[in-house]
Amino acid sequence: MRWPDLPDEHPTPSLVIHRPTVRDNLQRMQTYCDSHALRLRPHTKTHKSLLMAQEQIAVGASGLTVAKAGEARVMSQASKDILVAYPAVGAKRLHDLVAVARDAEVTVGIDSLDAAQQLQSAAVQAGVTFGILIDMEVGFFRTGVQDVANAVALGQAIDSMSHLKFRGLMCFPGHLLPSSPPETWARYTESLQNIIEQFAASGIPVETVSGGSTPTAIASHQNPFLNEIRPGTYIYNDLNEVRLGVATLEQCAARIAATVVSVPSSRKFIIDAGSKTLSSDRNCVDDQSGFGMVIEYPTAKISRLSEEHGEVVLPENSVQSLPRVGDRVFVLPNHICVCVNLQNSFYLLDSDSLVEYPVDARGLLT
Ligand SMILES: Cc1ncc(COP(=O)(O)O)c(C=O)c1O
Repeated sequence: MRWPDLPDEHPTPSLVIHRPTVRDNLQRMQTYCDSHALRLRPHTKTHKSLLMAQEQIAVGASGLTVAKAGEARVMSQASKDILVAYPAVGAKRLHDLVAVARDAEVTVGIDSLDAAQQLQSAAVQAGVTFGILIDMEVGFFRTGVQDVANAVALGQAIDSMSHLKFRGLMCFPGHLLPSSPPETWARYTESLQNIIEQFAASGIPVETVSGGSTPTAIASHQNPFLNEIRPGTYIYNDLNEVRLGVATLEQCAARIAATVVSVPSSRKFIIDAGSKTLSSDRNCVDDQSGFGMVIEYPTAKISRLSEEHGEVVLPENSVQSLPRVGDRVFVLPNHICVCVNLQNSFYLLDSDSLVEYPVDARGLLT
């Protein structure tokens, strides 16, 4: 789908979001989930935008996922069913979350008794209830209870706490990629089966089993134990997803508009998008491939970033001529979530409009 041109006065560097592509991405994921009886609970850390969250709910998402208590506050304006897929510990997070829980159903993913006790005592004091998912380790080795017997004991402890309601399990299969060997996918399924069986044997019903990421999303039906997924990046996609083979360039809805500010040598030009716009994230598939892709110069490499400068180098045999100072280009970033987090606003581009919206949850650190 060709993107309409931006007006000459459009400021750069800036984040531009193509609305028709967003709509296609949302509908495709929702249709997949509906056809496999999976609840879709998108992770809003990718867009941090109330408008986008409202679109996700309108298309059929059953609730929203956040990482930060501040995001929970913002996103509770779009849905009254919020999962904090992050161990919410510490006074500030708890203070902010009880405020959200007065008006919305808040579920928190945790992996320790300490976290459960902190949530219980904050909930008792405020007179609210938190739902709880136990975060289980399934191969990514970040957070998550590693031993099933410990998880069952944690479930029993949560069951005995007056202001916590055990709802089930969550996991983050961040190690799983479409290219992962079948044994790795099988281990994901088997580990969830084993966990669920041991909870059942202990008489603790597991309602929710929440997993998923964008790279695993449309393979979720192969794991029959999941009933909810939390992809985030799928709304915009990025060069990581393209190189992983889970999105096409046409399915990438977010680009950085940049201006060529210097053409210092015969194969190189400088754009006004540096690390403060593109972030320093390398591509997860090919970490030597540079800091994104210039759409108009697909064979060029964004070879080095300073804070305000992106250095773009054409290959030696390039048939393309260099741009001129003042020309505008679009960059597809490696990792869109971190780029969004660097922006105060984004420009929503439709066939006949370009409107600036705030990145509502930007800068909400806790
Ligand atoms: C706990 C959790 N759930 C869901 C997601 C969404 O995954 P993705 O960014 O691949 O869409 C993430 C991403 O970091 C995550 O940490």
